[in-house]
Amino acid sequence: MPERYAKITGWGKYVPKRILSNADLEKMVETSDEWIVSRTGIKERRIRSDDENASDLSVNSARKALDMAGVKPEELDLIIVACSSPDYLVPGVATIVQDKLGAKCGAFQLTSGCSGWVYALVVASQFIQAGTLNNILVVGTDVVSFGVDYEDRNTCVLFGDGSASVVLQPSAEPAGVLTYELGSDGSGAKSLYVPGAGSVMPIGRYAQKIVDERLGYLRMDGPEVFKFATRTLSSSMKRVMDKAGLLPEDIQLFIPHQANLRIIESAARMMRQPMEKFMVNLQKYGNTSAASVPLALVEALEEGRCKPGDKVVMCAFGAGLTWASAVVMLGAGEVSLGQSWFNMGRMAKRAVGAVQGAMNNVMLTLQFRKYDAARKKKAAK
Ligand code: UT7
Repeated sequence: MPERYAKITGWGKYVPKRILSNADLEKMVETSDEWIVSRTGIKERRIRSDDENASDLSVNSARKALDMAGVKPEELDLIIVACSSPDYLVPGVATIVQDKLGAKCGAFQLTSGCSGWVYALVVASQFIQAGTLNNILVVGTDVVSFGVDYEDRNTCVLFGDGSASVVLQPSAEPAGVLTYELGSDGSGAKSLYVPGAGSVMPIGRYAQKIVDERLGYLRMDGPEVFKFATRTLSSSMKRVMDKAGLLPEDIQLFIPHQANLRIIESAARMMRQPMEKFMVNLQKYGNTSAASVPLALVEALEEGRCKPGDKVVMCAFGAGLTWASAVVMLGAGEVSLGQSWFNMGRMAKRAVGAVQGAMNNVMLTLQFRKYDAARKKKAAK
């Protein structure tokens, strides 16, 4: 059987019209534009209107992707919607999206926090590569604002709402996901979670407690997630490039999860790559969870930051704790995986890079220890 790849043939995005700026947040909680910009890079985010739910945002971005790919909804073989903020707890949002689009295929929701869309892209690619399905819609949507406590300055300044979609179709030429890594560390589940929305605390029985103690909102241990994110972003991207036999120099654009500019800058430093090679649009949207990476991908394509034929590396991380990375070839082209392993010059460069990376990791660990000790000392006072 000839080799099949899962090529991205259409893409589209949708963000709600309403803008919530740092100046708006200054009126809601004790914060400042200066604090938010210097600690995160975020200037504003989009917030849904009351009648806009995850399914509406999804349909809006999906229609654009389908139009671009020239695929009618009824021609779809599968819809995957990565989402942690569905219209209802049950059913998953994907069936609602399927119905609103007028598609006739199977549909499921994939919940893996901010990593969800990269997980979904990898899952969808498997069906196409196996030759069992042809046209798959992969949506990343979150309306994080519904689960954010706008009295909690630790979280409310970070998140926003958005959606972005791609269509995957078979290609005989190398295209789409070339290599990937899916990761999970559930020991960190409570670093980023909603305490009162599942079976641990059924809402029907504990409604009063959940309201009184604000347990229905997202809780985050920011510094803990920050440490996990800085560790994960550069190391996971390196591993997927290694699997593909590629060096950072072979990659046209890095598309990281848009959680915090400092996390992205730290990855750029550790990978010894210029910031210009990293797509950043978090200043406009904040962290849109599962929509973050596809929204950055779509804007990068729209702005000409990457184009068909380019190889990009995506990496998302978040609740779970989870992470997901992939080397993706946009459009179709030629790759010979592993070839560069045999290039001695490159191997030498890789060895130097590995040593530099290890030294960076040691420096970062020492920095974090110092930071933790200072925090503990402060907490003990
Ligand atoms: O999709 C994955 C999701 N999440 C992430 O990737 C988030 C990862 N974490 C982060 O990005 C950072 O930890 C934050 C941006 C959330 C926080 O930055 P930080 O430098 O780690 O700050 P911190 O939590 O250690 O707080 C430092 C200080 C505290 O005050 P005290 O105790 O030193 O007096 C906080 O109360 O900053 C305070 N603070 C704020 N001040 C003004 C926390 N949030 C705010 C705020 N405005 N919005």
